[in-house]
Amino acid sequence: MDPNASGLATRLAEAGQSHLLQFWEELSPQEQGDFAQDLQKMDFQEINGFFRKAMEASGGSKEEKVDARMEPVPREVLGSVTRDRESLKDWEEEGLRCISQSKVAVLLLAGGQGTRLGVSYPKGMYDVGLPSHKTLFQIQAERIVKLQQLAEQKHNIRCSLPWYIMTSGRTMASTKEYFSQHNYFGLKKDNVIFFQQGMLPAVDYEGKLILESKGKLSMAPDGNGGLYRALRNEGIPDDMQRRGIEFVHVYCVDNILVKVADPSFIGFCVRKGADCGAKVVEKTNPTEAVGVVCKVDGRYQVVEYSEITLATAEQRNADGRLTFNSGNVANHFFSFSFLRDIVQKYEPELQHHVAQKKIPYVDSEGRLVKPDKPNGIKMEKFVFDIFQFAKTFVVYEVLREDEFYPLKNADGQDAKDTPTTARHALMSLHRRWLLNAGGHFIDENGRHVPAIPSGGAEDSFTDDGGRNLKDGTDLPIKCEISPLVSYGGEGLEELVKGREFHPTLMIDERGVHELVTNGV
Ligand code: UTP
Repeated sequence: MDPNASGLATRLAEAGQSHLLQFWEELSPQEQGDFAQDLQKMDFQEINGFFRKAMEASGGSKEEKVDARMEPVPREVLGSVTRDRESLKDWEEEGLRCISQSKVAVLLLAGGQGTRLGVSYPKGMYDVGLPSHKTLFQIQAERIVKLQQLAEQKHNIRCSLPWYIMTSGRTMASTKEYFSQHNYFGLKKDNVIFFQQGMLPAVDYEGKLILESKGKLSMAPDGNGGLYRALRNEGIPDDMQRRGIEFVHVYCVDNILVKVADPSFIGFCVRKGADCGAKVVEKTNPTEAVGVVCKVDGRYQVVEYSEITLATAEQRNADGRLTFNSGNVANHFFSFSFLRDIVQKYEPELQHHVAQKKIPYVDSEGRLVKPDKPNGIKMEKFVFDIFQFAKTFVVYEVLREDEFYPLKNADGQDAKDTPTTARHALMSLHRRWLLNAGGHFIDENGRHVPAIPSGGAEDSFTDDGGRNLKDGTDLPIKCEISPLVSYGGEGLEELVKGREFHPTLMIDERGVHELVTNGV
């Protein structure tokens, strides 16, 4: 294919991207064909526009702090598992009712590249080394299976809880194959729907598209907020409508503790008549680099730590809590009609954010360079960018140690959010479930191991002796409870009450087992 004859060269020249053809003559006919096909699909003017707007927006926010325009989440839109205990049962029942009526869908954001974890396969397929060796995908699938059963039993009705899984071009084939090989982990194949998010080229600081080889662009997924464009392109709202979906729970693949389609969260949002809800955990440390949900100029959004001054981050209320303490964990509720409006009307208004990255590139001599400092940007949208369009926005605060522990990094010295610490977080939760159900652990001397206090957010991530479990240096009691046995700690009493167990303890569909294992 001749780029001049096809008009490609002209399009590139008009968009200031002619450098992409600088190695054209060195490519084989096959490489030329593939490269031309990739380039033909691209709208370079649109990409230039994304770049311009993203740079303008990021330039502004760096200089201007938003402190003066911020307000915390008002108490009347906030539900809390610790402060509203008397309502929890009611919300849970409402959520289970909606699930039993097949009105709820689950939407998983799994299109990331997992670069920090550093594996070549999708993060959902990662085995953090639990006694069962279940992967993140399997744990989440089994939570859906169990929740569906709980709703069916309670309401004596068959229901479905469809699971929409967003992947990227790089992870689609392996994700699909993995689910198919494992028989969809007990879910109906029809109820697991894969769809693919878009990719965007990486660019340098002048907006020039970066070549990762002489005939290939450097491409990356367009952020978890690429969700909305992907939903439209893949016709997902139509599928949801056909199934009668009214409420959607959206979450990220890397949270090992995620309560998929959490009935209490859904029930709370439904009871409040919300079109959009955010689950949050309490931010307790002012300098923790977590975004907070708050109002800016009267509209809800997530404000990043870098956008506020330290004084604002440190501000406290009379009760000692941080004023801006609603830590965003990318776990959201959307009504179907809100989601459809976003997809149909508002998506084009969402702007890309700028993520500065080290992007391998070929230089003008054609040599591959792996930079050791950021040399360009990836353009990403965020899933929470749509809060601003909500008419009735609510916030639901849960305990971090019960519901949020993300897998981000590979194991290593001083690393947090690693396979080891994620594994410990899950086993620590399961251990607390067992204790709450009246079971006991005994140590090698035959003594009861004391209970871990629960309820204090970050600092309760400790073992009995107050040893920190976050850094992975101390070992928790090894205990794993299959989601097929318990979704959220329920149903364990008949199995464990009054009994004593030696770790490693494993409770699954086949019963209660004490295992002999080495290490954790
Ligand atoms: P992160 O931003 O932590 O990215 O994604 P990541 O891919 O997991 O890891 P790094 O940054 O490359 O190391 C948070 C969540 O958003 C999803 C991820 O799959 C994860 O569930 N995500 C991220 C997408 O679905 N699409 C994207 O383009 C980016």
